Amino acid sequence: MSAYSKVYDQSISNKEQFWLEAARDIHWDQFPQRALDDSEPPFYRWFPDGRTNACYNAVDLHVENGRADQTAIIYDSPITNQTAKITYRELQSRVSRVAGMLQERGVGLGDRVIVYMPMIPEAAIAMLACARIGAVHSVVFGGFAANELAVRIDDCKPKAILAASCGLEPGRTVEYKPLLDQAIELAQHKPDNCYLWQREQARASIIDGRDIDWKEAESKAIPADCVSVDSNHSLYILYTSGTTGAPKGVVRDTGGSIVSLKWTMKNIYGVDPGEVYWAASDVGWVVGHSYIVYAPLFHGNTTVLYEGKPVGTPDPGAFWRVISEHNVRVLFTAPTAFRAIKKEDPSGDYLKQYDLSGLRYLFLAGERCDPDTLNWAENHLKVPVIDHWWQTETGWSIATNCTGIELLPVKSGSPSLPAPGYKLKVLDNDGNECKAGDIGALVVESPLPPGTFPTLWEAPERYVESYFTTFPGHYETGDAGFIDDDGYIFVMARTDDVINVAGHRLSTGAMEEVLAGHADVAECAVMGAADSLKGQVPVGMLVLNSGCDRNEEDICKEVIQKVRDEIGPVAAFKSAVVVKRLPKTRSGKILRATMRSIADGTDWKMPATIDDPAILDEISESLAGIGYPQAS
Ligand code: COA
Ligand code: AMP
Repeated sequence: MSAYSKVYDQSISNKEQFWLEAARDIHWDQFPQRALDDSEPPFYRWFPDGRTNACYNAVDLHVENGRADQTAIIYDSPITNQTAKITYRELQSRVSRVAGMLQERGVGLGDRVIVYMPMIPEAAIAMLACARIGAVHSVVFGGFAANELAVRIDDCKPKAILAASCGLEPGRTVEYKPLLDQAIELAQHKPDNCYLWQREQARASIIDGRDIDWKEAESKAIPADCVSVDSNHSLYILYTSGTTGAPKGVVRDTGGSIVSLKWTMKNIYGVDPGEVYWAASDVGWVVGHSYIVYAPLFHGNTTVLYEGKPVGTPDPGAFWRVISEHNVRVLFTAPTAFRAIKKEDPSGDYLKQYDLSGLRYLFLAGERCDPDTLNWAENHLKVPVIDHWWQTETGWSIATNCTGIELLPVKSGSPSLPAPGYKLKVLDNDGNECKAGDIGALVVESPLPPGTFPTLWEAPERYVESYFTTFPGHYETGDAGFIDDDGYIFVMARTDDVINVAGHRLSTGAMEEVLAGHADVAECAVMGAADSLKGQVPVGMLVLNSGCDRNEEDICKEVIQKVRDEIGPVAAFKSAVVVKRLPKTRSGKILRATMRSIADGTDWKMPATIDDPAILDEISESLAGIGYPQAS
């Protein structure tokens, strides 16, 4: 039996003992007597009687145990030409002051705090400061528009908001303050205070009585201590796209997250405390929460906070510079980043200018990794390239190659085998297990392991309905795929209206809601079309109100702007076309999958239930008019 199989089998057949053992590797104020409370399925509770604090495990513990002078965070910003190093001792000092600053104005245990920040150290400091005093942070990605921020404010009702004055995109300063003010105006709920981190590139105006200059308040604050919380106390809420415009508030608990994330650092990523680990993502996404901030700090690593892009900041050698300059051992990013690099530097010339001998593994996730990208990365980096599959809901990987246990052969196109703790199955529509090679719904038998999501924020019914109803006793991932004869998993497609654009998860349903709000649009559909750089990009099809004689191109431009204004630039919604009608089944369901196949230029069958087959020729013509299928 392989080392991986042994660990995996133990994690499934004796989960109590497996996770209690892992729990010994973290600091508890009160060690849990049992691992799992399964009295109320599907609401499972891990380490129900444990007490701990995430910030203590991420910061103070290392200061006390000899890592005070080790660098905790490397801030590397090619956009501002700055690099800074923060030791664990410095991090403790700043985090405890920011925690004190929040406490001073009444933020305490269980209060929500929204963090709206670019990739600067203060983003991580804000998250840790909340965790320190038991406040529940909710980080909102900087590429979202005011309306998306307003929706999140109304859902989690924050007592305070921590924001920077601006974010920096290549060639563009994104002023956060106007977006923040607009969001607060749009929202029903009003936070008591907004703390603003002023960046020189665009200073924010201060609204008296509500807004506070963060730097000044932090310098005067009395440092706050870590508050011991219940293992099941919410560490954070992170909103993610569902099938409708209302995002889902994924909740993460405290104890389960510390135990599982700490466990993954050695067992999955193969890094030791003290080494440099770099997740090139954004704190606004789950990868940023788990692998820029929490897991590397729980494990006593040095984490890299990179404010830049894989290309253009200044060139496709940016990642290689960071790896060699900071001696990065493991890099984790999305395949789209590598596609961008490969496109600009196909023969890897930039790579040859740097010493990458310290790099041990490249991990990829966020979208399906195409074999071309995987092979290119392997050939040039000459290290194992590990595709692993995970979701905001799970917080860490569902399927991976556990390099710290045993590096298994890599199969291109597969994120390897189930991670310990996940009893993965492929089910058909009737809930029967598919045989090897047959595609079905990818599900995980309950309970999900520690560190996943115990519920949705104040929406337990939606939690059950969205994830645990189609296949009773199982978590429905929303992905379809198959398992091959060797047990390797292949994730092929989403089963819902979620698309993946440059590794960012977006809802086509949410975009349709925006398009439908345009005065001239009678009906619309948004689908994810294949894109050689971003994996998928959204394409909108519009049917106009009868009698509308306005210029179609103008309307398309308006809806594109509308999505940018209401969802944000990150939606990358740049293609829309007016069509006479949308193809539908006789029962009125829009045939999005067929339209997607036409846009992608892949084979498709005439759906038996279509009400008028001629519509598909019209659709094909309209898509050709906006460049679909893309020339390969
Ligand atoms: N704040 C404000 N705007 C943002 C933003 C942020 N934090 N992040 C992205 N945007 C904007 C971009 O400026 C761009 O705006 P534009 O339409 O004016 O050009 C738009 O959102 C789309 O951004 P993106 O999808 O990132 O495309 P890009 O063309 O700027 O860059 C890549 C393409 C591939 C280089 C980039 O997507 C990338 O680095 N991806 C890595 C993905 C990743 O880290 N995923 C996380 C999961 S692991
Ligand atoms: P997010 O919640 O933003 O992390 O997006 C999760 C979704 O991204 C999953 O449900 C998958 O559809 C997709 N995804 C993430 N990682 C992979 C992977 N390694 N292979 C295929 N799809 C992936």
